[in-house]
Amino acid sequence: METIVQVSQYEELARSRVDEAAWCYIASGTGREQTLRGNVAAFEQFWLRPRVLVPTAGCDMGTTVLGTPISLPVMAAPTGFQKLLHPAGEAASARGTGLAQTLYVASSSATTSLEEIASATSGPLWFQLYMYKERVLSEQLVRRAEQAGYRAIVVTLDTPYYGRKERFARKNYSFPEHIAKANFSAEQDDTVDSEMGWDIFDWLRTITDLPLLAKGILTAEDAELAVQHGVAGIIVSNHGGRQLDAALPSVLALPEVVLAVQGRVEVYLDGGIRSGTDVFKALALGARAVLVGRPMLWGLAVAGAQGVTHVFDILREELQYAMALSGCPALSAITPSLIKHQ
Ligand SMILES: Cc1cc2nc3c(=O)[nH]c(=O)nc-3n(C[C@H](O)[C@H](O)[C@H](O)COP(=O)(O)O)c2cc1C
Repeated sequence: METIVQVSQYEELARSRVDEAAWCYIASGTGREQTLRGNVAAFEQFWLRPRVLVPTAGCDMGTTVLGTPISLPVMAAPTGFQKLLHPAGEAASARGTGLAQTLYVASSSATTSLEEIASATSGPLWFQLYMYKERVLSEQLVRRAEQAGYRAIVVTLDTPYYGRKERFARKNYSFPEHIAKANFSAEQDDTVDSEMGWDIFDWLRTITDLPLLAKGILTAEDAELAVQHGVAGIIVSNHGGRQLDAALPSVLALPEVVLAVQGRVEVYLDGGIRSGTDVFKALALGARAVLVGRPMLWGLAVAGAQGVTHVFDILREELQYAMALSGCPALSAITPSLIKHQ
């Protein structure tokens, strides 16, 4: 068997190990999948301008996100339904992420309850919240997350409706019986709120003191509104190409968001990160850290918690290599002068 040295090998292995419906669910985007492809492809529009003869001894990759230390600037993006991929599901991915000494964002749509996820990992956690038509459902989740030790609430804003994954729908695939959202009971109506506005942040402020993050921002205009509504961080994201097809690839949206925010809140990116050089590029464009969705899921499908830790370790090693070869002794040295758009 080949040694696994790149994240893409986990993708191939995962594809051969999980059943077709599960693969289709995680791999799919929406519509004609322009955004799904664009997220990955857009990273190739950026090139590095390496500096030479800069001593880089060790390359320090440690940073903080909202004050929480992480060992590399890569976190686990919130993804639901992980028991489709591995029987231990989110407990394993959270544990693997914690073992890599980085932060895990638990999804509202997890197949493991938020309390079980919290007890499965030693690493820091944020909770991803959908705003439900039944407001009380969202409220209960926030209170439970607070109780269970989650450190922030990530509010997903790009989902007034769940995106239609045509690839999945066309095959008439559905989930097996035992795959269900674990944070709710079957009788609860978890339809998302399609009428919500920016006042959701004012409402959330009345029920929690945890920092709030806005996930799914792609424009300077919305970044400004998010800052005005008191968020502590912004995640530039198009939901991995799973909501609005033809929405801007996230790395192309990042510069305008960074420019609009002017350092007032932390800016992160997810979508299309597949290597340490992708992480490097996102940081050079102003992201404080990035999140990975599918790469983490591929690791989980292939080798459970261990696979997830290994995915982070591969990204860590590649980032270290990129830093050493471009003259960056620390993350703070990864500046816009090291990147060119072409
Ligand atoms: C299978 C799957 C499930 C997802 N579930 C959620 C979710 O429950 N909540 C959410 O905010 N984002 C969800 N996302 C989006 C991810 O948080 C993230 O934005 C995206 O996966 C990043 O792109 P990448 O997969 O290219 O890394 C999901 C993505 C995938 C692939």
